Amino acid sequence: MFKRRSLLTYFSIASIASILPAIITILKPRQASADIVKDDDASDLKKASKTAAKKKPESFTAIGLVSDLDKNGYLESKGVTLIRNPVNPKQLIAVNPKCTHQGCDVKWAAAEKKYACPCHGASFDANGEVLNGPATKPLTSYQAKIVGTQVLVKISVPPTKSTQSRTSGRGGSKY
Ligand code: FES
Repeated sequence: MFKRRSLLTYFSIASIASILPAIITILKPRQASADIVKDDDASDLKKASKTAAKKKPESFTAIGLVSDLDKNGYLESKGVTLIRNPVNPKQLIAVNPKCTHQGCDVKWAAAEKKYACPCHGASFDANGEVLNGPATKPLTSYQAKIVGTQVLVKISVPPTKSTQSRTSGRGGSKY
């Protein structure tokens, strides 16, 4: 009886050992095909990461203090001009001040409640919509909010040297 049980155990182990290479062989081609898929995915991922690298991830960035906004009537920093909505001062309006005609920096003219371009005379309303050409497209606008004493803007473009930290010298007004 004991010998018979030992013999059965021996054959069981031997049969498992004999099919083990077959199991490994079955699994290996699947891994190889998975590698091929991974290569395709890697290519797609590479493309996606290149696109993501070109596009800076959007996040809220502090561009100034609420006190400066209310003192000057606007904030200009990090490639953004921000004002309070003349119609609803609780609402902030942030735009890219690059004129959509040929890229000159537009200036907020508080008295006229519009952005004026010094280069060819285009003007935009407080929301950045075209009032007068030659520009035909609105200014790029951004989400903005106040957190504590800071004014934050959700921007995706890198700041430019020409538009950094100009927060005084123009006749803004309180709303
Ligand atoms: Fe602004 Fe031409 S660049 S009107």
